[in-house]
Amino acid sequence: MITLKSNREIDLMRRAGKITAAARAVAREMVKPGVTTHQIDKAVFEFIKSQGATPSFLNYNGYPASVCVSVNDEIIHGIPGKRVLQEGDIVSVDVGAYIGGFHGDCAGTYPCGRVSEEDMDLIRVTQQSFFEGLKVAREGYHIKDISHAVQTYVESHGYSVVREYVGHGIGRMMHEPPEVPNFGEPGHGPRLLRGMTIAVEPMVNAGTASIIQLRDGWTVKTADGKKAAHYENTILITDADPEILTDPEESLV
Ligand code: MF3
Ligand code: CO
Repeated sequence: MITLKSNREIDLMRRAGKITAAARAVAREMVKPGVTTHQIDKAVFEFIKSQGATPSFLNYNGYPASVCVSVNDEIIHGIPGKRVLQEGDIVSVDVGAYIGGFHGDCAGTYPCGRVSEEDMDLIRVTQQSFFEGLKVAREGYHIKDISHAVQTYVESHGYSVVREYVGHGIGRMMHEPPEVPNFGEPGHGPRLLRGMTIAVEPMVNAGTASIIQLRDGWTVKTADGKKAAHYENTILITDADPEILTDPEESLV
């Protein structure tokens, strides 16, 4: 069942969203050559705790960390560890924070030092595909209008959208109905109503859409070894423009 949030619940989600967005900023600032992915996890964990919140991902279905760090051909769900970031890597970070009974969820891909113009294009197209989806994230449209807008933009730039993982409703639980795919036919899927809160999260491969799952049970990579990018925000459907609850400009630090 898709839950519509009350004004009080929306305020709580704004609070969770602000902390989540700020946690993404903490992770983003750490994307530098020589930093280990574990160091990013530790900083995100400590930041979220310092805000009185709980990392949404930690222990979620057994996930062992507070952040997903996915490098180069890793698309999503990379587990932080000893890996040392190198100049030229592109690094996706995905964070969630839980406070006051509600979750926020957001992600972004960032360059480590100087990266190729090709990789910057992948990052920019992925980010812009979210904003293309946002244009139709309005009452009167359907979920798959967002899906279609994301897919059309990504594919017009010669990239592919991942099919096996999708965006989602979010609220008291990190994953709620409806699913928000990054591909689909316009006019399909549930109708958008004010009070819906959803995480829109394009996962974009530079090459083909095919993925492989690593034996660690989490990391998802591109099958062709080409790079991938991810961009996600938690948004609120209103009677006018959607509100981004995980404002990318947010920084509490
Ligand atoms: N942002 C991811 C999602 O929307 C959550 C990471 S999965 C976890 O599904 F297990 F690491 F929490
Ligand atoms: Co998500």
